[in-house]
Amino acid sequence: MKVTVVGAGSVGATCADNIARAALCEELVLLDIKEGLAEGKAMDMMQTAALLNFDTKITGSTSDYVKTKGSDVVVITSGIPRKPGMTREELIGINAGIVKSVTSNILQHSPNAVIIIISNPMDTMTYLALKSTGVPKNQIIGLGGILDSSRFKYYLSQALPASPNDIQAVVIGGHGDTTMIPLTRLATYQGTPVSAYASAETLKKVAADTMVGGATLTRLIGTSAWYAPGASGADMVRAIVRDEKRLIPCSVYLEGEYGQKDICMGVPVTIGRNGWEKIIDFNLNDEEKALFSKSADAVRTMNNVLNTL
Ligand code: 2OP
Repeated sequence: MKVTVVGAGSVGATCADNIARAALCEELVLLDIKEGLAEGKAMDMMQTAALLNFDTKITGSTSDYVKTKGSDVVVITSGIPRKPGMTREELIGINAGIVKSVTSNILQHSPNAVIIIISNPMDTMTYLALKSTGVPKNQIIGLGGILDSSRFKYYLSQALPASPNDIQAVVIGGHGDTTMIPLTRLATYQGTPVSAYASAETLKKVAADTMVGGATLTRLIGTSAWYAPGASGADMVRAIVRDEKRLIPCSVYLEGEYGQKDICMGVPVTIGRNGWEKIIDFNLNDEEKALFSKSADAVRTMNNVLNTL
């Protein structure tokens, strides 16, 4: 298996590091536009191979897409991250051009690669990558729900309190501070509803904290987060290369599912060797359906900005 990670910044490098440590592929290429950055980080990671016992061959490249040829999976993290006080949506002007050209360069050398988009605003970047290339819809997956769900599990684990490993919880909708939808009603602690262990008020705060989970970290760190986004990317790569058919909330192209059309948004989908395979209907109640439709309106407004760039 060959995996490429585009963007050797904090998210891309952490993602690559996690992929190598878990030995998810034989060949791993890290690519960046900044001269020497990807080569340096790849070499640094290779110098951990003898310590961590992995045998993935990691190489770096400065904008040479020939080196990415024949990749099975590509993770795109390129673009500028947000600064404190910024929303993910404010990045669209710069990131749209970057994501469009990176995706097209990648597909030129790896036409069948499954592409994972992390760049923000993620749902719109996923939609752009799909529309600008015309590849089959299952090949392009936006990463948001897996990360937001992990943050949701963290906040639930703090509130209950419990181990995050014993919590099942999913966030769907757009990957934005006001568009994501933590599905508290369906969250469980080892199969039992979390509402049995925390008050409605506490659970409301957990959902609110989850929604601004990324912004909280941006405020604390001074730039957007990387450990959980990078680990989320590697977890998705694992589901693809090992054909796990895992059920992961991801941003995918909807054609009527969850009541929406011609949009990429977070819904529960199974992930395997061919990318995303099947959208699972969680049977939302009326309140959740209304939130999903409101979230779709916001994502669509952002998609419309693409026409003005
Ligand atoms: C986040 O930290 C990268 O959007 C990303 O939420």
